[in-house]
Amino acid sequence: MSGDARKTAEALAYLSGFGNEHASEAVPGALPEGRNSPQRAPLGLYAEQLSGSAFTEPRAHNRRSWLYRIRPSAAHPGFTRTGNGNLRTAPFAETVPDPNRLRWNPLPDPAAGTDFLAGLWTLGGNGDAAQRAGMAVHLYHANASMERVFSDADGELLIVPERGGLLLHTEFGRLHVEPAHVALIPRGVRFRVELLDESARGYVCENYGAPFQLPDLGPIGANGLANARDFKAPVAAYEGGADDDTAGPVEVVNKFCGNLWTATYDHSPLDVVAWHGNHVPYVYDLRRFNVIGTISYDHPDPSIFTVLTSPSDTPGLAGVDFVVFAPRWLVGEDTFRPPYFHRNVMSEYMGLIEGAYDAKAEGFVPGGGSLHNMMSAHGPDRETFDRASAAELRPQKIDDGLAFMFETRWPVTLTPHAAGAEHLQQRYDDVWQGLERHFRAG
Ligand SMILES: [Fe+2]
Repeated sequence: MSGDARKTAEALAYLSGFGNEHASEAVPGALPEGRNSPQRAPLGLYAEQLSGSAFTEPRAHNRRSWLYRIRPSAAHPGFTRTGNGNLRTAPFAETVPDPNRLRWNPLPDPAAGTDFLAGLWTLGGNGDAAQRAGMAVHLYHANASMERVFSDADGELLIVPERGGLLLHTEFGRLHVEPAHVALIPRGVRFRVELLDESARGYVCENYGAPFQLPDLGPIGANGLANARDFKAPVAAYEGGADDDTAGPVEVVNKFCGNLWTATYDHSPLDVVAWHGNHVPYVYDLRRFNVIGTISYDHPDPSIFTVLTSPSDTPGLAGVDFVVFAPRWLVGEDTFRPPYFHRNVMSEYMGLIEGAYDAKAEGFVPGGGSLHNMMSAHGPDRETFDRASAAELRPQKIDDGLAFMFETRWPVTLTPHAAGAEHLQQRYDDVWQGLERHFRAG
């Protein structure tokens, strides 16, 4: 943590647009013109392709970038196993899938010197990382900047800060992310996390499946929800130049099929001087989300709040959706305005970035989370039901909270440490007690 880091973070330049074929060079002339792999890359750099999709996937889904770096990624010693800490990976089979509605308070404070990687704590997940299907829900609580570098071969990482700003140093350049923003690190991209405040806390969706993309808009039209232009990719920045004392040695931790492997490089792997492509990290400000809802009665299903979706082989069925409940007006007439009671074939993990959520009057706190697994019955708590059923239906601005959901096709199975956590609330079911019988037959 340093004031200089915050100044650096706030002054960063970006490239805009989701899924674009971006190009950037930190040194003029570093990016080859007209070809990807010239006989000799400019400035003595090594050319290297990073594939995020199979070479032959359809153009609309194809993700790859070309990196021009001081040393090729291949120049590293062997990896050896290291401890996984509180990080776990699918398949999750250490506990029995739980049909109960579950809710957690925030993670406890970490021990001094806990960096982002050491601070990752897996709640649970589904699928199989080696099959590139499913997802994991992690939380993090850190109080030290990473001196080491991390990469995740198992999936992309959607980082959702709840407390504390982060400066992400990636192979592609640097990204600044604060609470109410999200950052995405693609599969296999090396990065380290520098804290901009004394501590940092938040959520991570690890998506083993197809990379997140913007949802189709159907009859909404050409604009709306998360607009492509608001996604920002970094400009090239590198470590390891001749006058750079951060050049090495550097520990690099690689997550591969659920285990952490470590190697000490004699140079920083964040040594990409220029790059082009569409397999890139990015940040997005959730307050830019264009919220769409009813202007007549009822309200749309919460899929209308989808920011990013990871499609499966079945049209419309997401491996995981990232959904945000952003500030918005409620105007529906003769409508119960908070989220309705429901049971869902999809499984829902919800977190809160700030404020309060309109279906839960209390107990759901920033940094905490809830899990409503497949077909579990849930909805507003009694206090919210009573209030919303009697409310005068004037236009109402919901602007005191920012909640989100990771909604996934398969039940989330917990890790033992999430199932037995001291911060697991023991009486969550009580919020639906006392919903009285109002029925009168005639
Ligand atoms: Fe729900």
